[in-house]
Amino acid sequence: MKILITGGAGFIGSNFIRHIISEYPQHAIVNLDNLTYAGNLENMKDVEGHPNYQFIRGDICNRQLLGSLDFDAIINFAAESHVDRSILDSFPFLQTNVIGTQNLLEAAKIRGCRMLQVSTDEVYGSIEKGLFTEESPIRPNSPYAASKASADLLVRAYHETFGMDVLITRCSNNYGPYQFPEKLIPLVISHAITDKPVPVYGDGKNVRDWIFVLDHCKAIDAVFHHGKSGEIYNAGGKKELQNIDIVTKLLALVAEKTGKDKESLRHLITFVKDRPGHDRRYAIDPSKIERELGWTPETGFEEGLANTVDWYLSHRLWWERIISGEYRDYYKTQYGERFSE
Ligand code: NAD
Ligand code: TYD
Repeated sequence: MKILITGGAGFIGSNFIRHIISEYPQHAIVNLDNLTYAGNLENMKDVEGHPNYQFIRGDICNRQLLGSLDFDAIINFAAESHVDRSILDSFPFLQTNVIGTQNLLEAAKIRGCRMLQVSTDEVYGSIEKGLFTEESPIRPNSPYAASKASADLLVRAYHETFGMDVLITRCSNNYGPYQFPEKLIPLVISHAITDKPVPVYGDGKNVRDWIFVLDHCKAIDAVFHHGKSGEIYNAGGKKELQNIDIVTKLLALVAEKTGKDKESLRHLITFVKDRPGHDRRYAIDPSKIERELGWTPETGFEEGLANTVDWYLSHRLWWERIISGEYRDYYKTQYGERFSE
């Protein structure tokens, strides 16, 4: 089977391609990615040249290009993925996450093929108690979440209207190798290594449910190969933590692994102005995918977090190259005012 994987040069997509190439020698992969600030060909170095792998630089909003490609299924990872950036400028989020998804649906419709949309638990909005299930209403609160929810609605509509073979996965917060350093976990690790202040939004008590990226990849694999057409599957790590607790854990891990002084690293924690519309708690119930497809998160949190810290320590050049480029301008815009207040 020839699978068109979009956004495969990003964090989760690159991990997913590595997983598929090692587990399914019968699948050929076409990775379509337009290499935005978050796309990085270095993430794909170890599969470059593999006979089952092809990279095409291109935009999922380009209908002509999509029409010229040959594939038997689509898995859509391509997205603008950072909530804070969606607050600064939501336009690219609507363009890629909504219009881009619609283009892919059209391309899948023409070819009569399966499409899996990689979505997020953020479409459900914030929950004080209990867990979101696939039946929960979608109540997105950030422009990012609203754009992903819009895409989910289009996917649903194409199933209902055209009988298309579609699937949606909604996963909680991922962590692991190759995550762009704007996201909380790699940001904390890189700041701890370089002794930079660690910005914690608001009171630091917002809760996220963390999952190791390979477990998310395995969930997508299970849904893609065995999921029921038209269905939504939640995937979560069943590991809820307040931000301040995960930040403290990460600083302790960096201290342990580098020999830096633990107390000095704790002093890097800086409470800064909160993110507007900041969702208090994300928590989803993965029992449907566990029951129906036999998937469950396998990586222990302590093990996954330690491996992630090790990866950032041993791939310093990878993230230093990123943070010394155009990322500096983003960082100044996003955090300059926060730190000065
Ligand atoms: P990422 O930002 O690391 O990567 C996104 C990739 O998409 C990049 O390689 C980028 O170049 C590419 N891209 C962006 N716009 C494109 C376009 N118009 N055409 C082609 N390629 C384009 O994101 P990620 O964290 O790997 O997330 C991947 C997917 O998983 C997204 O759809 C995201 O919404 C979803 N998701 C992420 C998480 C998480 O915790 N990171 C959790 C649940 C779901
Ligand atoms: P993030 O990694 O941006 O993921 P998301 O917003 O999609 O959940 O943020 C995770 C949590 O960490 C979220 O509650 C916001 C918080 N956060 C900080 O406190 N400081 C930061 O510098 C960043 C990037 C995030």
